[in-house]
Amino acid sequence: MTQTTVVSTRFAGRIALVSGGAKGIGRAIAMQLAGEGADVAIVVRSDRTAAESTAAEMRALGRQALVCLCDLTDSAAVAALVAEVENGLGPIDVLVNNAGFGAPGALLTLSEESWDQVIIGNLKSCFLLSVAVARRMQSRKLGAIVNIAGASAHRSYPGAGAYGPAKAAVVSLTVQMSLEWASHGIRVNGVSPGPIREAGSGWEAREVALAEEVSRLPLKRAGQPTEVAKAVAYLCSDDASYTTGQMLIVDGGGVNTWYLAG
Ligand SMILES: NC(=O)c1ccc[n+]([C@@H]2O[C@H](COP(=O)([O-])OP(=O)(O)OC[C@H]3O[C@@H](n4cnc5c(N)ncnc54)[C@H](OP(=O)(O)O)[C@@H]3O)[C@@H](O)[C@H]2O)c1
Repeated sequence: MTQTTVVSTRFAGRIALVSGGAKGIGRAIAMQLAGEGADVAIVVRSDRTAAESTAAEMRALGRQALVCLCDLTDSAAVAALVAEVENGLGPIDVLVNNAGFGAPGALLTLSEESWDQVIIGNLKSCFLLSVAVARRMQSRKLGAIVNIAGASAHRSYPGAGAYGPAKAAVVSLTVQMSLEWASHGIRVNGVSPGPIREAGSGWEAREVALAEEVSRLPLKRAGQPTEVAKAVAYLCSDDASYTTGQMLIVDGGGVNTWYLAG
């Protein structure tokens, strides 16, 4: 029997901006959106080499791709970034706030500087970019925004002092934006990944403690960046046209368990 491959064009003619889209989860999201027809701008702080490599892969798919360098914690730089993307590709239809990072540090020993870095790098960056883009989206009465939080937003992780609070605040910000911007035709949702690692990359040997925890997840494996990307693409697409203010937790079922804490 002949097998038919269905190629999705959900984002044909649309412009997407993916922060941190050069590597890891962000790269998978950028590639997923480009694969479904979007022209994509990816933003990194400094790693232009990784960003250009991802952009080249998107161009090979026949898409337009733009690489932008910007520190998303700087409001003036963010305003210039949005203008650069709109001048280069056109009005932004889809924004994915993926840039962020964790840093270990129990609360009793966490420095004030580390606290500020994690809160600002995960939360303020999401706020600044979302507002700058939503101001443009509201005049067109359309737009979809997806914020990447993390399973740590929904269950606390010992020793991850500022990260859980920062990501929990991203969840709250997602709901806040969804309520304030619904009347402007802008949907805002979020995805919370659990442990995400490239299969076959040998990460288990480098991160032994995490590998042990992962073995106790209901699905007993780490997730793939593409598994997060597909959830993000759904929420960005018209398939989710009646969904706003929601979090999709992509974590192998870990958030529902009590037996993970060591
Ligand atoms: N990987 C996981 O297991 C996991 C689990 C739960 C949640 N998450 C969340 O998922 C997202 C992606 O994680 P990942 O592990 O794929 O990240 P990653 O590989 O470390 O990549 C992070 C990207 O974000 C960019 N970035 C960070 N801060 C930035 C800033 N201030 N301005 C501009 N760009 C900035 C980085 O650019 P440069 O390289 O140029 O600095 C890089 O391209 C993050 O929000 C993370 O918290 C990840």
